[in-house]
Amino acid sequence: MSNVWDEIFASESFCSDLNPREFVTANMAAVAPSAGPVLDVGCGCGRHLVYLAAKGYQVYGIDLSDVALSKADENLRKFDLSAKLSKSEMWRIPFEGVSFSAALAINVLNHAMPAEIAMTVAAISQALAPGGMFLVTLLTTNDYKVCGEQVGERTFICDKGPEAGVLHTFFDEPAARALLADAFTIEDIQIASGETRIDDGERVHQEYFRIKAVKGRKDNGG
Ligand SMILES: C[S@@+](CC[C@H](N)C(=O)[O-])C[C@H]1O[C@@H](n2cnc3c(N)ncnc32)[C@H](O)[C@@H]1O
Repeated sequence: MSNVWDEIFASESFCSDLNPREFVTANMAAVAPSAGPVLDVGCGCGRHLVYLAAKGYQVYGIDLSDVALSKADENLRKFDLSAKLSKSEMWRIPFEGVSFSAALAINVLNHAMPAEIAMTVAAISQALAPGGMFLVTLLTTNDYKVCGEQVGERTFICDKGPEAGVLHTFFDEPAARALLADAFTIEDIQIASGETRIDDGERVHQEYFRIKAVKGRKDNGG
């Protein structure tokens, strides 16, 4: 096992839900497959790659986990679909010369230190065509995983839930807006929250921002 994510993905349950997020399906409906390729950063088992490839988009995915990438490939093949997949840190996007019409980072950016997250946002901006859409989620500072060992101002390694032992950096709204301010215009920012049960049945609060941004600076408001 090369990293903690390989171990997580090796458990069957982690990839059991292959339904795309409504946040992705609703916003991608406004981007035609002919507009250009779509990049999924931290693609995991490929639920959004499968959805988008089936709709006719040319899809590219990166992930740090070999196990995730091989599951994504397997899931695509089940439907006779394909994607360009590459093992890569989120802040090193390897598809030079490809200009993406949209990029997704769903439940991914939190898994790095703030400086790495900023590098990732810069790399995604670089890879997008002007006006390209960026759909990103960011865990808020009210999420239950703000617990365990604190390794940075807003970064923790929590020992609870399915991602126990994984590093997470959390965002309040000013930090989320500041992260995108240099390269993007935020078109929509919403908080999604809910309760879930973890480990031995403990009820916990999950909370994250769903952000739709476009490449290029206008007025980021608020
Ligand atoms: C919670 S999963 C989300 C997967 C997928 N985006 C989805 O919505 O199903 C987080 C993903 O981020 C990947 N990841 C974590 N750290 C990464 C890094 N530094 N570079 C690239 N991918 C990373 C993990 O391997 C994992 O696939």
